Amino acid sequence: MSAQPCPGPSWAASLAFVTRRFSTLPDYFLELARRYGPVSRLHGMRADVYLFDESDAIEDLLVTKARSFIKGRGIQRLRRLIGNGLLTSEPPEHIANRRLVQPAFHRKRIEAYGAGMIAAAQRRLAAWNDGDEIEVEHESMRITLDIAAETLFGGADLSADTEGIGSALTAVMETFPASVAPFGEVLDVFPFLPITQKFRRARAQLDATVERLIAEHRRSRDDSGDVLSLLLAARDEDGSGLSDEQIRDEVMTILIAGHETTAVAISWTIYLLQRHPEDAARIVAQLDAVLGGRRPALDDAPALTLVRAAFSESMRLYPPAWLIGRVATEPVELGGYQLKKHDVALVCQYVTHRNPRYWPEPGSFSLERWLDGAKPPEKFAYFPFGGGNRICIGEGFAWLEGVLVLATLLQQARFELIDAAAVGLAPLVTLRPANPIRARVRVRSPHRAPASAAAPR
Ligand code: HEM
Repeated sequence: MSAQPCPGPSWAASLAFVTRRFSTLPDYFLELARRYGPVSRLHGMRADVYLFDESDAIEDLLVTKARSFIKGRGIQRLRRLIGNGLLTSEPPEHIANRRLVQPAFHRKRIEAYGAGMIAAAQRRLAAWNDGDEIEVEHESMRITLDIAAETLFGGADLSADTEGIGSALTAVMETFPASVAPFGEVLDVFPFLPITQKFRRARAQLDATVERLIAEHRRSRDDSGDVLSLLLAARDEDGSGLSDEQIRDEVMTILIAGHETTAVAISWTIYLLQRHPEDAARIVAQLDAVLGGRRPALDDAPALTLVRAAFSESMRLYPPAWLIGRVATEPVELGGYQLKKHDVALVCQYVTHRNPRYWPEPGSFSLERWLDGAKPPEKFAYFPFGGGNRICIGEGFAWLEGVLVLATLLQQARFELIDAAAVGLAPLVTLRPANPIRARVRVRSPHRAPASAAAPR
């Protein structure tokens, strides 16, 4: 362990940290890591905050020493919305929750969702005409919400709720920076504050959707093995089922964690490819060679190496989950420094995915990093889905969804960016583009029509 004090900003500069705008945090953390190296510390009144930009320390935090930590403030504040579900609960509830939901994410089950993923992308394509102007993130969200409803919630039709869910989620995310700020809890107790009202309206809207999903599923008595049927059928050793509140919390968690992140990743991939037209052209050539004009199917996924490379590279540069925070529950050594109980440990995908020690020319978009023959990234130099016992349960789902949705869209449409220069970063819960990515759709005929596995709804 290092005998030297941990490098980092002075007391005064550390205190100024709390006044920073949330939107500046990814670049601020990047600057900290570049200036102070693998570990930097911000002084705090009650607890210090450490940022780790070193793969061994990240692995220790998420895997080897995970037992010495609980989830950080950001996730804890999300409880206001998603209650005590899989994302927010701590052991022992977390272990029981995970065991319960895991079968819905078994590899074989995920593969069975493949046709639904392609069909959802196909439905959006069918709604666009050549020359239409779209907001890429909004359209991606419609696709991934449609997929979540169809595959995870037993074929529910959320198409009428899409706008409401999207705007409620945006409203919740916009209230997030204030809610995690020091004394953010104050917002919970003053219902007359506009920001509290905004949050409560949004939560009520999402609650209504979740209640409808559960009620419809209960009526249909579907037990096809999707998440909702597993939750409704779950029994303790004493034979009792989950409470309505537990079911509500898990459904809200999967609904929210399960569609927005992937939509953000798909949107950034489309954005990056349009900034790199030569890579977009390589992808289209591979799609044409592999598919020969027919629609993609599940079995094509392994051959679509360039689409997967683009999705990987997009999550390197713009990781949808960009920051993971933990709080020490006991004194613990990490990255060569001694953390006290209550100290905060941060690992930031946005920072480590751009660390030149792990990534030559980190700022440049390169499919080559992910293709055969390239050196695989060092463990925990790339961790868009986290790691250890809290690793994203939807990782396999998200990879398949990203590849199949992008393959379907890019095979049949081209997206011409409008005002590309104006897109910035909006690090809310996820790393969204600050301004909508607007694009004009150019339909690529004659590949548009031929139907295969994908069935219209
Ligand atoms: C590109 C898409 C996605 C990204 C980048 C992503 C990222 C992450 C990350 C980083 C975590 C760990 C958070 C932590 O350690 O504090 C996580 C957890 C989680 N994710 Fe995802 N996720 C994605 C898609 C999904 C999907 C599709 C689902 C569900 C259908 C999902 C459901 C969850 C759940 C339930 C957890 C909590 C797991 C646990 O603590 O046991 N995610 N996700």
